[in-house]
Amino acid sequence: MEAMGVAVALGLLLLTAGGSTGDAAREAAAVRELLVRLLGPGPAAAFSVSVERSLATKSGLDTYRLSGGGAGARVQVLGSTGVAAAAGLHRYLRDFCGCHVAWSGSQLRLPQPLPAVPEELTEATPNRYRYYQNVCTQSYSFLWWDWARWEQEIDWMALNGINLALAWSGQEAIWQRVYLALGLTQTEIDEYFTGPAFLAWGRMGNLHTWSGPLPPSWHLKQLYLQHRILDRMRSFGMIPVLPAFAGHVPKALTRVFPQVNVTQMGSWGHFNCSYSCSFLLAPEDPLFPLVGSLFLRELTKEFGTDHIYGADTFNEMQPPSSEPSYLAAATAAVYQAMTAVDPDAVWLLQGWLFQNQPEFWGPAQVAAVLGAVPRGRLLVLDLFAESQPVYVRTASFQGQPFIWCMLHNFGGNHGLFGALESVNQGPATARRFPNSTLVGTGMAPEGIGQNEVVYALMAELGWRKDPVADLGAWVTSFAARRYGVSHGDAEAAWRLLLRSVYNCSGEECRGHNHSPLVKRPSLHMVTTVWYNRSDVFEAWRLLLAATPTLASSPAFRYDLVDVTRQAVQELVSLYYEEMRTAYLKKELVPLMRAGGILAYELLPALDQVLASDCHFLLGSWLEQARLAAVSETEAHFYEQNSRYQLTLWGPEGNILDYANKQLAGLVADYYAPRWRLFAETLAESLVQGVPFQQHQFDKNAFQLEQTFVLGTRRYPSQPEGDTVDLVKKLFLKYYPRAGFF
Ligand SMILES: *[C@@H]1O[C@H](CO)[C@@H](O)[C@H](O)[C@H]1NC(C)=O
Ligand SMILES: *[C@@H]1O[C@H](CO)[C@@H](O)[C@H](O)[C@H]1NC(C)=O
Ligand SMILES: *[C@@H]1O[C@H](CO)[C@@H](O)[C@H](O)[C@H]1NC(C)=O
Ligand SMILES: *[C@@H]1O[C@H](CO)[C@@H](O)[C@H](O)[C@H]1NC(C)=O
Ligand SMILES: *[C@@H]1O[C@H](CO)[C@@H](O)[C@H](O)[C@H]1NC(C)=O
Repeated sequence: MEAMGVAVALGLLLLTAGGSTGDAAREAAAVRELLVRLLGPGPAAAFSVSVERSLATKSGLDTYRLSGGGAGARVQVLGSTGVAAAAGLHRYLRDFCGCHVAWSGSQLRLPQPLPAVPEELTEATPNRYRYYQNVCTQSYSFLWWDWARWEQEIDWMALNGINLALAWSGQEAIWQRVYLALGLTQTEIDEYFTGPAFLAWGRMGNLHTWSGPLPPSWHLKQLYLQHRILDRMRSFGMIPVLPAFAGHVPKALTRVFPQVNVTQMGSWGHFNCSYSCSFLLAPEDPLFPLVGSLFLRELTKEFGTDHIYGADTFNEMQPPSSEPSYLAAATAAVYQAMTAVDPDAVWLLQGWLFQNQPEFWGPAQVAAVLGAVPRGRLLVLDLFAESQPVYVRTASFQGQPFIWCMLHNFGGNHGLFGALESVNQGPATARRFPNSTLVGTGMAPEGIGQNEVVYALMAELGWRKDPVADLGAWVTSFAARRYGVSHGDAEAAWRLLLRSVYNCSGEECRGHNHSPLVKRPSLHMVTTVWYNRSDVFEAWRLLLAATPTLASSPAFRYDLVDVTRQAVQELVSLYYEEMRTAYLKKELVPLMRAGGILAYELLPALDQVLASDCHFLLGSWLEQARLAAVSETEAHFYEQNSRYQLTLWGPEGNILDYANKQLAGLVADYYAPRWRLFAETLAESLVQGVPFQQHQFDKNAFQLEQTFVLGTRRYPSQPEGDTVDLVKKLFLKYYPRAGFF
């Protein structure tokens, strides 16, 4: 049983935070419009959607009810909120029609007539919140989105039953007003903000200045987008989380207010103090509440509010003091600046800090932060709970409510990866924890648009009390819905992927692609993986065997490209090992053979396969950047921001290849030239009898990397070539190598 205090605290949170107070008719209308966007007006007319608050459970939990369908009858979708109705609709499409809503291509062939719901089906979510996003998702994935793309994503969110999400666009425009009002000059503000591709880290105080300034048109566009995003999210009854002041200020504030008490933080992410070491306002300085409330007042005047605010003061940054009294004061100051403007404020905190720097965050430090905000007013995201849950070692965040989040992805990397068993069990285990204060489940990936199966499972868990009983059966039906046909080979391929790449457990599960393919080569690269590579090759073979039946499915072609990509990534490790062995044995011919295949045949062939699918094009990512601009100068600037993020990340490769992606164009012009340089340098070293010098190689590699970043070559934003033909060619040539794993 829950402790009394906790129950009261959670009740407080449920009462104050948004959702159930809006207009039910408006939410039903929003879901009807979603239906038309998803299925078209004809098929949408076969559904009847309504929203009734009274459908919620006694404790106020979102509920949907399905009924009707069959010959001549409309399918009735009833929800306690718009989000609940959308989730019910998705459930019907998924479980009764065998449909699949996906980033990589939806499968929406409806049976005719629409299947009947034999018995009225009512489902309630087990918890108050289903959360979505990470502060970093805004930079790694949403960066250049226009309204059309946002609209798709908000539809996806609604269908997946998400009712709590960050809405952080446009905040720099508001900050600019605040800083101008405080007396900073436009130049000082321009010097402070990062460029568009690095705003996430500007917002968390990790970075400033780097790759800025933001053009005036950026602010205008983001304000416009934010209004539309908020309006749409609210129309479904979702709660948008707005940003709040966390304590970081521009250095120029000390020019305007020479007496202000600020502390300069340490550097972050191998950036020097020209770009990091931000200034933190002392919690007891009178400017703290002033700046914080100026910002929140201006923000909520512009956008309204649903009373939940996100702020991260010490994300990946060592606080200036480990004294609990200091940490409590720094935390209380953030909360008080919120409540000064909005007495109902609830603070959403990314719990990443506790798990990222466990050596700093001992029990006393954690307790200081958690105890500085009244119970029920600090909503903690246990951000990486599928791997390193924090609730278990903090007595369920000491009574503060928390959301069990799956992080899954770092840097928006490609690479098949998932810890599905752990994700499947995690939320139920957290609910059973003694005195658990779990109030929701969530997805907090740094980047989206990959490994869709993992997100499908997590979204489903937001509406299940218990784990999926048989993941093998679950993934089999996932494959059938995804392709719209049950195909034995394709389903077998998915079961192999499930037991290998998607069944990571233990220390290696960090969702970061460390394949040598996407890393700067050295003689010490790690090639071990947590799965049996033969499973990937067998899945590859099985998918190819299914092509005659499934080639017309966009999601199938996507998977064929993606699994081919994965197989190539395994092959790169194999040829790299051969190169290294040959080099160490001083055998020139095998070295040149392996290096030649890797850099001159395999990677170019991968680039061609990637070029055949619209989801794997550097060209479309860069085109999105250019389309966000209003002048050629701006287009060039945005493109360069993007190229930096994908590769060097900072001026000197400060977080080199963190956000690596396997995109056509990037493989051919960035990863392949680096591997050619490595193969040639090793061969040269054997020929000359001079040992390989990593330091010198790094310098030369940097030149190549920088040349790519500063380059202006335009890449196709439309796919070219036939995926199936290209994959077959690659398969025939390289599948026999599978025997060497
Ligand atoms: C749960 O809460 C109750 C009431 O506060 C307390 O007595 C009990 O020790 C707690 N259990 C655990 C395992 O912390
Ligand atoms: C930081 O690094 C940049 C180059 O990346 C350099 O121009 C600048 O002078 C450095 N700043 C400091 C404070 O060292
Ligand atoms: C400045 O702030 C720090 C941190 O809160 C505090 O320890 C220090 O006493 C303050 N200094 C002054 C001069 O107020
Ligand atoms: C995943 O691996 C664990 C062992 O680590 C095993 O018990 C489990 O059955 C595996 N799950 C699947 C779906 O293969
Ligand atoms: C990997 O799978 C293959 C094919 O099933 C099998 O022959 C091989 O023994 C496995 N390797 C390991 C290390 O389990």
